[in-house]
Amino acid sequence: MQPKIDNVRVNLAERSYNVRIGQGLLARSGAEIAGLLPRPRVAVVTDENVGGMHMDALRDGLGDVQAVTLTLPAGEATKAWPEFARTVDWLLAEKIERKDVVIALGGGVIGDLVGFAAAVLRRGVRFVQIPTSLLAQVDSSVGGKTGINSKHGKNLIGAFHQPSLVLADIDLLSTLPARDFLSGYGEVVKYGLLGDAAFFDWLEKNGPAMAAGDAAARQYAVRRSVEMKARIVERDETEEGDRALLNLGHTFCHALEAATGYSGRLLHGEGVAIGCALAFELSQRLGLCAQEAPSRIRAHLRDMGMKTDLGDIPGDLPDADGLLNLMGQDKKVLDGKLRFILAHSIGSAFVASNVDTAIVRQVLSDALAQR
Ligand code: GLY
Repeated sequence: MQPKIDNVRVNLAERSYNVRIGQGLLARSGAEIAGLLPRPRVAVVTDENVGGMHMDALRDGLGDVQAVTLTLPAGEATKAWPEFARTVDWLLAEKIERKDVVIALGGGVIGDLVGFAAAVLRRGVRFVQIPTSLLAQVDSSVGGKTGINSKHGKNLIGAFHQPSLVLADIDLLSTLPARDFLSGYGEVVKYGLLGDAAFFDWLEKNGPAMAAGDAAARQYAVRRSVEMKARIVERDETEEGDRALLNLGHTFCHALEAATGYSGRLLHGEGVAIGCALAFELSQRLGLCAQEAPSRIRAHLRDMGMKTDLGDIPGDLPDADGLLNLMGQDKKVLDGKLRFILAHSIGSAFVASNVDTAIVRQVLSDALAQR
């Protein structure tokens, strides 16, 4: 029997598309993509790690569709001008036309870079995301944010360019190292915290089974996360307002990532999880949410074996002012004021500006003191 495939529609008028979620999608990629193709030829961009593991299966799945492939080095350093230029030049050399389709097979780095290359190639060609990490399946492959990093900061160069289709094959998650899976889980928890208390309850009960490999639990968690992201992106595609809710935990996270040099000391989703706990701590100090909320979040992260506090980050960190300064470099700063996503309770987040910096500093110094 064919496994059940969930379909989440992202409704954006002429830029609408489906996110297909389930097992065995790579094996049926040819059938899934067929309707988009003007001719049986696609360009696939992947990285060395993912390509080695999944490119043969994708080729088999594409069947009669011929695939030309570019394999980039794995890692965040790829998401920069040199590999971006190489990708665009390669697509031109392969004579990818305006109506052709480019496939991004990989995690967030490949999805963001390839999406941006598709956005500018011949003033925009269509692309399909085949996200291979949990983080990419629940967040970066959906919503059309594409781009690369600059020496001035992460994701500072880019474009909104929606994919034409996303194929989130749950089976691919079983090839992830446990730490990468749990890092992606940080973004899953974020959805419960920002907008769905019942989903957070569900994660408290089912998160451990999900981490252990339960495919049905994984499929449900990816589907629920994508549904939530889709509804927010539909309301606010270009982040004029509500889309900022998706940045819950990210202002703290970006400061911590900068402080740790974007290194293996802290993965993005790990920073998001710690950042979410800090955002609830800040909300509680501001009298916005109950004292139990941050403790309950930390308890769940600990249950999952995740990094939870600043003390879980190896090595030195700057002091509270140093971290505040790094928050000031964040691209979400508006008119010189820090903007935070705060919460009234688990499942009820909102965008706040003019947060008292002194209280943020206090939250950070208390968190640093417990290291
Ligand atoms: N990752 C946040 C967003 O897509 O808006």
